[in-house]
Amino acid sequence: MTSALMPTYARQPIAFVKGSGCWLYDTDGQAYLDALTGIAVCGLGHAHPVVAQAIAEQAATLVHTSNLYQIPLQEALGQALHDASGMEFCFFSNSGAEANEAAIKLARLFGHRKNIAEPAIIVMENSFHGRTLATLSATGNKKVQIGFEPLVQGFVRVPFDDIDAIESAIAANPNIVAILVEPIQGEGGIRIPKAGFAYLEALRAVCDKHDLLFMLDEIQTGNGRTGKYFAYQHTNIKPDVVTTAKGLGNGFPIGACLVQGKARDLFKAGNHGSTYGGTPLACRASLAVVELLQNGIIANAAIMGERMIEGFKTALSDLDVEINGRGLMIGLRLANPCSELVALARDEEKLLLNVTADSVIRLLPALNISADEVDEIVLRVSRLIRRFLTQ
Ligand SMILES: Cc1ncc(COP(=O)(O)O)c(C=O)c1O
Repeated sequence: MTSALMPTYARQPIAFVKGSGCWLYDTDGQAYLDALTGIAVCGLGHAHPVVAQAIAEQAATLVHTSNLYQIPLQEALGQALHDASGMEFCFFSNSGAEANEAAIKLARLFGHRKNIAEPAIIVMENSFHGRTLATLSATGNKKVQIGFEPLVQGFVRVPFDDIDAIESAIAANPNIVAILVEPIQGEGGIRIPKAGFAYLEALRAVCDKHDLLFMLDEIQTGNGRTGKYFAYQHTNIKPDVVTTAKGLGNGFPIGACLVQGKARDLFKAGNHGSTYGGTPLACRASLAVVELLQNGIIANAAIMGERMIEGFKTALSDLDVEINGRGLMIGLRLANPCSELVALARDEEKLLLNVTADSVIRLLPALNISADEVDEIVLRVSRLIRRFLTQ
């Protein structure tokens, strides 16, 4: 088939034309169980009726004005996120990468305030922060960077989950102003720190000790994915900056950069902006999402996540599979590369999943999934892995 699109994606030979909850339907009407939700985007499942109605009503009322004017729905969403997160102020973008761009700019402003002319941010190996020039430079994956050099300067890379390496990097470089990290590395293979979320407390302590901004990329872990609104809410600490996107709009494009503490007053009028960021339409969609999530759905994600992990532990106990996860962010690490499982799952099990970091089956199903659907995912994935490893 000829296509007028740039070949930036290695697309699978399938198109979906309809969705409902955990299910997607292809052009022939075949149903697929979606354990990926557009990579942690449709946390409320596909075509959620309340979100659909909010979008339809708002589209027929007012789509866009401009950030030149007051936007009451943006104020309301900012307040809802403040209430959900304990963060103070919010800036709205249209994607995760843009939310991280805002965070990176905040770190640089913070550095310049401290008279550091060339501020640097500590970032992690195997991280993923986006595809813009600054965020791909922050990303710890050569495949994302290659061909786009010169990279943006001002990032110092250390191994993930290694506080000593961070301390050494700080000792070696007086220009460090911030740490940017994912609470659980998503693209990097559902990597959970050894100490779990206590790692975030250790990072907070390092940032306090050295007067650094603690910046969390919760683009994938946020909006209920790990069983709390944000992953840091499994602890008693707060970051200075947290970015999110993906599940924030359930598929409607929106991202956010939230600040508190040392980061709260850095941006002044004229420092940052976006034509589309925080339109009435995006904010109406997201308000519906944020409200629904907190109405029992995040709690469901925590319970269903445990059910899924327990299900896999039982079903795969005799196989060499490492099971990692928090909430409904689950990774099954095989001993060898297994990217062919994506097509096998789709064609043989009518199941949509993804393989990341070469050998990790990544499952990010809808957060309002039922117990029966959890069991069905466990059944289909386990059958698939068993065939793959034993045939
Ligand atoms: C942790 C993390 N940060 C940033 C991004 C980039 O978000 P977007 O694709 O919306 O720009 C992603 C997307 O996968 C992500 O998982």
